[in-house]
Amino acid sequence: MSVRTSSCLHLLVAAASFAAATDYGYWNVTYTGGASATGYRYHDITAFYSGYSPDRRATCRWLYSPEFRNETLTCNDPSFSYELVDSQRRLTYVMTDITLQQTVEIVVVGKLQNVTLGGTAPITLKYNLGANGRGFGGETVVQAQKCCKGRMNG
Ligand SMILES: *[C@@H]1O[C@H](CO)[C@@H](O)[C@H](O)[C@H]1NC(C)=O
Ligand SMILES: *[C@@H]1O[C@H](CO)[C@@H](O)[C@H](O)[C@H]1NC(C)=O
Ligand SMILES: *[C@@H]1O[C@H](CO)[C@@H](O)[C@H](O)[C@H]1NC(C)=O
Repeated sequence: MSVRTSSCLHLLVAAASFAAATDYGYWNVTYTGGASATGYRYHDITAFYSGYSPDRRATCRWLYSPEFRNETLTCNDPSFSYELVDSQRRLTYVMTDITLQQTVEIVVVGKLQNVTLGGTAPITLKYNLGANGRGFGGETVVQAQKCCKGRMNG
């Protein structure tokens, strides 16, 4: 009996390490922002998923209206969300971590399925881009892993 239990455990461990070896791909991320003289502020994020899913380009725009003093976040993919945490502000740049989450269609163990993936990577956003000097932006690559938390925004 105990022998059977232990060989079962062994199989579970083997299955778990096989799952951990799956390559879930990555996102190429561009994050930019700016402000108008009239006080509007916007942030744009574009994330290209590299995996098996065809054309999973996620884009979101965050917009602050000085007129109504409210914010709107609009994304093209309802399964996509993102979060910037632990920002460290310097004079000409911000260093921060960006976390993404998206449900993509990929092949796992030979079967096409919808899988929610997530990942975190550092990103540096440089200031003073754009004609009026109010812009900022940066790029990074986020490795995807099977995931995660609940939705982060929206
Ligand atoms: C991400 O960027 C790298 C480096 O510029 C490039 O080689 C790669 O093709 C890009 N991948 C996607 C999915 O855009
Ligand atoms: C912002 O406020 C305006 C005016 O009250 C309203 O029309 C608009 O829907 C609001 N936007 C959001 C995102 O709440
Ligand atoms: C994945 O989800 C999309 C959107 O809900 C759906 O159209 C598609 O059929 C799903 N794919 C699989 C393999 O379940």
